[in-house]
Amino acid sequence: MATVVVVGTQWGDEGKGKVVDLLTEHADIVARYQGGHNAGHTVINDAGQFILHLIPAGVFAPNKELVIGNGVVVSPADLIDEIQRLTERGLRLKNRLYVSDRAHVIMPWHVVIDQGSEQQAQAAKIGTTGRGIGPTYSAKMARSGIRIGDLFWPEVLTARVEQLLQELNPLMVQRYAMPALKGKQICRVYQEYGEQLREYVTDTITVIQKAHREGRNILAEGAQGTHLDIDHGTYPFVTSSSCAAGGACTGLGLGPTQIDAVVGITKAYTTRVGEGPFPSELHGEEGQRLQHAGGEVGATTGRTRRCGWFDAVLVRRSAQLNGLSSLAITKLDVLDEFETIRVCTGYRYQNRTFEEFPSQEAILRECEPIYAELPGWQTSTRGITEFKKLPERARTYVAEIEKLVGVGASIIATGPERSSTIINDLPF
Ligand code: GDP
Ligand code: IMO
Ligand code: MG
Repeated sequence: MATVVVVGTQWGDEGKGKVVDLLTEHADIVARYQGGHNAGHTVINDAGQFILHLIPAGVFAPNKELVIGNGVVVSPADLIDEIQRLTERGLRLKNRLYVSDRAHVIMPWHVVIDQGSEQQAQAAKIGTTGRGIGPTYSAKMARSGIRIGDLFWPEVLTARVEQLLQELNPLMVQRYAMPALKGKQICRVYQEYGEQLREYVTDTITVIQKAHREGRNILAEGAQGTHLDIDHGTYPFVTSSSCAAGGACTGLGLGPTQIDAVVGITKAYTTRVGEGPFPSELHGEEGQRLQHAGGEVGATTGRTRRCGWFDAVLVRRSAQLNGLSSLAITKLDVLDEFETIRVCTGYRYQNRTFEEFPSQEAILRECEPIYAELPGWQTSTRGITEFKKLPERARTYVAEIEKLVGVGASIIATGPERSSTIINDLPF
């Protein structure tokens, strides 16, 4: 029996969806603990190709249970839509998807504030997904949020929404040039969403704790990545939730002693979507080559992902923050053609050298990466499933990452399909 957390170690899109889909075979419950439909988790398996936003990537194993935990923010319309689209493709969600009654609801004003403040921010733009994520978490912390459970209490919901809109409507009209929001109408629509979701909504902490007591395997699926974490990321260019493994405790109702292993999903190079510092970013032709070879286009917003070399300073910090048990190195095959591969081992800033990740954006923006160079293997690794079959230089590259980060690789992915994977060691 084990509880395993899967977490992104960079800025998201590391291949969490693929790895969760792969590990689901060994789990009984797959649970999302934070984020919302800003996530885009791609899965390619026997059932086809899918991009999941809110539904855990364990959905393809028909008898596994799925949880959307209290730490997630839920847009009911988007959840209903995702359930419907997956159902149309032959997947059953009924009687196995559990949505937390404590999860916060993304309300229409959260979306207006997210998109409006991005439009007005200009230089200070974060490059959010525009899904209302930040304002919903802000409201949660400010104790002015709406929770899924509130959708079933019409009087409570109406009183709360009317009270909130008294404060918010002047902002909607004056600052964001929007018509005032109509409380009664919104409540009617959201109650209807509640009715459509009613069969899934429950106290998911009881579900998780019961599974733990019964000795079942729990797989906690992180969204985003450690360096987008509200506490530990490149603030303010972060998302608004606790993406790091600790978020699985608060976001699912698990105690720290109930977690047995943490797998850090790590792309063999680095990408980032949206604004914010990125020391090993490649601006020229090499960056475009990585972008092209890796098909680096955002799964949620369709934006081109910024690309750069593997940054060991970044991932070493993730190893500490998440207490990583092992790495799952993904997209190794994307480096197949490169003559020389570089790895960032430290940062130079003025006369200083940083081997630990600096907290100040001003430093991160100015620092120069210090690179180690490794020879490329220039032969295809695509679809290889045994470590010993990798070309020697690819094995050396993996060993170099393991050494620099201080954590061994349990999984190495050599293609987007579930089957294109080397499994050295199972975390369960
Ligand atoms: P997530 O958000 O962490 O789940 O990652 P995304 O799905 O947003 O982005 C990862 C992309 O890389 C997807 O298009 C995957 O299909 C793809 N992918 C995952 N693992 C591999 C791999 O080992 N090799 C290649 N070539 N593509 C991969
Ligand atoms: P997955 O789960 C990559 C980024 C956005 C933006 C910042 C804040 O697929 O790895 P938000 O809308 O969350 O307030 O945006 O976070 N971001 C992601 N980048 N992958 C993601 O998810 C992301 N989710 C949010 O681009 O820079
Ligand atoms: Mg993604």
